[in-house]
Amino acid sequence: MQPIEIAEDIYCLRAIDWSIRDFHGYSTYRGSTYNAYLIMDEKIALIDTVKKEFVDGLIAGISELVDPLRIDYVISNHTEMDHSGGLPRIMQEIGESKPLYCSKMGQKDLPKHFPKRWNYQPVEDGGELSLGKRTLTFMETRMLHWPDSMFTYVNEDKVLFSSDAFGQHYACLERFDDQVGEAIMPHALKYFANILLPYSPLILKLVDRVKEMGLALEMICPDHGIIWRRDPAKIINSYVEWSLQKPKRKALVIYDTMWHSTEMMAEAIVESLGQEGVNARSMHLRSWHRSDIITEVIDAGAIVVGSPTLNNGLFPTVSDFLTYLKGLRPRNKVAASFGSYGWSGEAVKLINRELEEMKFSLIDPGLKIHYVPDEGGIKACYELGKKIAEALPAG
Ligand code: FEO
Repeated sequence: MQPIEIAEDIYCLRAIDWSIRDFHGYSTYRGSTYNAYLIMDEKIALIDTVKKEFVDGLIAGISELVDPLRIDYVISNHTEMDHSGGLPRIMQEIGESKPLYCSKMGQKDLPKHFPKRWNYQPVEDGGELSLGKRTLTFMETRMLHWPDSMFTYVNEDKVLFSSDAFGQHYACLERFDDQVGEAIMPHALKYFANILLPYSPLILKLVDRVKEMGLALEMICPDHGIIWRRDPAKIINSYVEWSLQKPKRKALVIYDTMWHSTEMMAEAIVESLGQEGVNARSMHLRSWHRSDIITEVIDAGAIVVGSPTLNNGLFPTVSDFLTYLKGLRPRNKVAASFGSYGWSGEAVKLINRELEEMKFSLIDPGLKIHYVPDEGGIKACYELGKKIAEALPAG
């Protein structure tokens, strides 16, 4: 793991996980990275570690710069094990009694992951730690995205270590936004949609707080993906835009099907939406990964969900998707349901229940069609598409 100096005496040590394709249910087609950072001042501080599988590389990378025994402090911005998994080996290498700085919640949560009783030093929100020429300021960012999450800011260099926030699952040799360009933005959006979306109101408050503090930012260093140095404001402004979830004239028709009847309905609804000038997309749940659909959900004004009735219930992929969607708490959507059925046809009612629990605005009782849609059934799908279009903002 080759250390790269990202600012004077501040190094990024990055494990590249080229092969990971599933990150607790989130599809990571481009792999990921786990970024740790080393600040070499009169005191030497390591910020976060890496997944335990990569810790040997981290130790080798540190050793290229300094004997690990000379590290004075470890700072844990986040307890999740893609960043803390390397702690047991790191603490062994640097000395188990070295101070380990974390948030108050980190002090509670880290011992529930690791049995060793390290020298925890819980920090206050706004607390400071001098390294000599530099001072670190800690910012509690509770629930962004775990209770223990915090940021660490280097006052003199204006560098923010932002933990998961502003990260991307994106394995590459490049280190910085200016080296990757616009290609990074869809990955940053996907990360936001799948990890941070439920906490959108907290993100808006945090950005206001950063503005009030007048915090200057030269560089934002997340724990995944590339570092933002060309224009850190760009990713902050994008987070604000994504958090606001302003609905566009865009509809997602998300469904699964058994004998293509629900699929026929989906296609008719999408076609009708298109005729009404809506940016509509058909998303078959066995063709689209749930985490890619969520990325599209952010700015969609309408979510239309279809399922055949299977054994008096929903098709399993539809249940899976609705569970995932509900947990991520998207806002500002109109919604509708549809589906083909053979016997009792509970699917539409079950979808509606979920959509209402998500506080979406249901614009129709739901369209059920017995077996294969006939001409009248297809016409009803077109009418549903038109009704959804009328409920969307003008383009
Ligand atoms: Fe990258 Fe919440 O861990």
